[in-house]
Amino acid sequence: MRTRPLKVALLGCGVVGSEVARIMTTHADDLAARIGAPVELAGVAVRRPSRVRDGIDPALVTTDATALVKRGDIDVVVEVIGGIEPARTLITTAFEYGASVVSANKALLAQDGAALHAAAEEHGEDLYYEASVAGAIPLIRPLRESLAGDKVNRVLGIVNGTTNFILDKMDSTGAGYQEALDEATALGYAEADPTADVEAFDAAAKAAILAGIAFHTRVRLDDVYREGMTEVTAADFASAREMGCTIKLLAICERAADGGSVTARVHPAMIPLSHPLASVRGAYNAVFVESDAAGQLMFYGPGAGGAPTASAVLGDLVAVCRNRLSGATGPGESAYAALPVSPMGDVVTRYHISLDVADKPGVLAQVATVFAEHGVSIDTVRQQGRQDSDGEASLVVVTHRASDASLSGTVEALRKLDTVRGVASIMRVEGE
Ligand SMILES: NC(=O)c1ccc[n+]([C@@H]2O[C@H](COP(=O)([O-])OP(=O)(O)OC[C@H]3O[C@@H](n4cnc5c(N)ncnc54)[C@H](OP(=O)(O)O)[C@@H]3O)[C@@H](O)[C@H]2O)c1
Repeated sequence: MRTRPLKVALLGCGVVGSEVARIMTTHADDLAARIGAPVELAGVAVRRPSRVRDGIDPALVTTDATALVKRGDIDVVVEVIGGIEPARTLITTAFEYGASVVSANKALLAQDGAALHAAAEEHGEDLYYEASVAGAIPLIRPLRESLAGDKVNRVLGIVNGTTNFILDKMDSTGAGYQEALDEATALGYAEADPTADVEAFDAAAKAAILAGIAFHTRVRLDDVYREGMTEVTAADFASAREMGCTIKLLAICERAADGGSVTARVHPAMIPLSHPLASVRGAYNAVFVESDAAGQLMFYGPGAGGAPTASAVLGDLVAVCRNRLSGATGPGESAYAALPVSPMGDVVTRYHISLDVADKPGVLAQVATVFAEHGVSIDTVRQQGRQDSDGEASLVVVTHRASDASLSGTVEALRKLDTVRGVASIMRVEGE
C-alpha cells in the first residue's frame, strides 16, 4: 500500500459534508485498504467558520474555498455546497489545478453537466456524482457501467422523498395536501420553503441526469417537462383507489417506440397498486429501469439524508482515488447517441379525467364526441349524480393511450362545451 496519502478537499460541511468527514475519519483504515493508499482530509471550506463542527480539526476549516481548491496538492475535491455558484467555478477550478471532483449537486449537474464533463475531460480528471440522484441508491454507476452493454428504454422512479412522504400521508390518512405538508415540515422531511420539492424542480433535475446517462444523450433541465404536486387532492386519491391505483410523483424518462427520440418528464400520476413503485412508502425513493436484455430492474432505498448521501459520496471517492492511483480516469460523459428530446405533447400515455357536467340526457354523448374528434379513445366512463347538486354530475373518463397533445386539445374543447361546468382534475395513468 502507498503510504503517501491522497488529499481530499471538502467543500461544504453541512448535512452531507459533516457525514462525509465523519465516515472518512471513522472508516479511515478500511478506506485506505480498499483504495490502496490513505486518504487525508486536507481542508474543509464552509461559510460560517465559527460554527462548532464535531470531529473536524478547526485548523482545517476555511472560508476561502477557492484558495483550498487552488492549493495544487489536492487530489480530490468533494463538492457538497450545493447550488450553481460558487460550486460551478470551484469545480472547474479544481480540474484546472489537477484535482478530480466528487459532487452531490443535482441542480448544477442537470444545468451544466455537459460543460463540467468537458472541463474534466480537458484536464484528464474524473467527475463523479452518484449522490446527486436518489441519495444512497446506486443508480448512476449501474446505468453508466453495469448497463453499459444493454439498451435502456425506460427509467421510471420516485426520486424525491419529501413529496413521496406527503403523497403517502394523503393516501394512508385521507389528509389534504396542506395537512400532509405541515406534518412533513414538522418531522423535518420538508424544508421551510418546500418549493423545490413540491413543484418538482428537484425531481426534474434528477430526471435530466438519469435520462442523459440512460440514453447516452444530453438532456438538460429545460428539456424536462415539470408539473408539481400541490394540486393533488384527497378526491384524486379517492378516484385513484376506485381504479385500483395510488398517486405518486414520478420521474419518467422514455425512449420513443421507434427509438428515434426520448422524453423526460416529472408529474403526479396514478399508478396501479400492483406496480412495485406503488408500495414505496414514506420518504423512500425507488427507481424502476427497463432495458432490452436485463428486463426490469428496481433500485430502492433512502433517497436523502446526511449519512445515506455520504455513503454515495464515499463510494465515488473510493472509485476516484483508485483511478488516480492507477493513472486512469473513469467513464466520462457518454452523449454519442444525441437523440432529440421530444416535447411533452409527443408523450403517449393514459389519462384519468374528472369533469363536472350538467346532469341531463345527451351530455355523455356530447363529451364522447369531443374525445373521438381528437383521436382519444375512451376506455371507461362513469357518471355519478351528486346528492348536493344543483343539476350537476361528475363524469370520470379513463382513456386508452393517446398523445399529450391530443389530450390537451380534447380538454380545451371540453371546456368550451356549455354542458361541461368544469374540469375537476386530469391525471396521467402510468406503469401499466
Ligand atoms: N441533504 C440531503 O439529504 C442531500 C441528498 C442528496 C444530495 N444532496 C446535495 O448535497 C449538497 C449539499 O447538501 P446539504 O444538505 O449538505 O446542504 P447544507 O446542509 O446546506 O450544507 C451546505 C454546506 O456548504 C457550505 N457553504 C455554503 N456556501 C458556501 C460557500 N460559498 N463557500 C464554502 N462553503 C459554503 C455551508 O457552510 P456553513 O456550514 O458554514 O453554513 C454548509 O456547510 C447539495 O448539492 C444537495 O443538493 C443533499
